[in-house]
Amino acid sequence: MTVTVIYGTDSGSTKTIASRLAKKIDGKALDIKSAAPADLENCDLLILGSPTYGEGDLQCDWEDHLQTLKSANIADKKVALFGTGDQVNYPDSFADALGTLYDQVVEQGAVIVGFTATDGYTYKKSTAVRDGKFVGLVLDQDNQASMTNDRIASWISQLT
Ligand SMILES: Cc1cc2nc3c(=O)[nH]c(=O)nc-3n(C[C@H](O)[C@H](O)[C@H](O)COP(=O)(O)O)c2cc1C
Repeated sequence: MTVTVIYGTDSGSTKTIASRLAKKIDGKALDIKSAAPADLENCDLLILGSPTYGEGDLQCDWEDHLQTLKSANIADKKVALFGTGDQVNYPDSFADALGTLYDQVVEQGAVIVGFTATDGYTYKKSTAVRDGKFVGLVLDQDNQASMTNDRIASWISQLT
């Protein structure tokens, strides 16, 4: 199974997570800034990740290069999503970028895998929650970094 992880990052945490995921799952990690639609298409499992900025916005490189995702043919492709966020300082828009990516890939007909339970997180609102579950893996490197290893491990075993 070929796996491609596409991420955006401002201060590096999401890049670090993307590289850790790629290493564990034997895939490659690519910054959305330098990805082409073919990179998103030519894999068996596509993993997309973004931190949330502003108040619930996608990371800026994702915003600037959203057309790369929009123009990729990912209909019926297996797609998993992850998001980094800060539940303490942004409890009303916790990991909202994950919800934005979710809506986009659903619109393009992808098959979303890797939903996770919201247990263990404390926040008020998140568009990343649908039907009581996060639409992907949510990591809080600002407040719960010590839980990241376990969260990644159980998510990967769910995906593979
Ligand atoms: C100005 C600013 C706004 C942020 N807004 C949000 C937010 O609305 N929701 C959230 O969950 N996290 C928010 N965060 C936290 C980041 O998403 C988090 O620190 C993330 O790990 C950063 O990832 P990066 O290092 O890959 O850029 C914000 C951080 C900053 C500095």
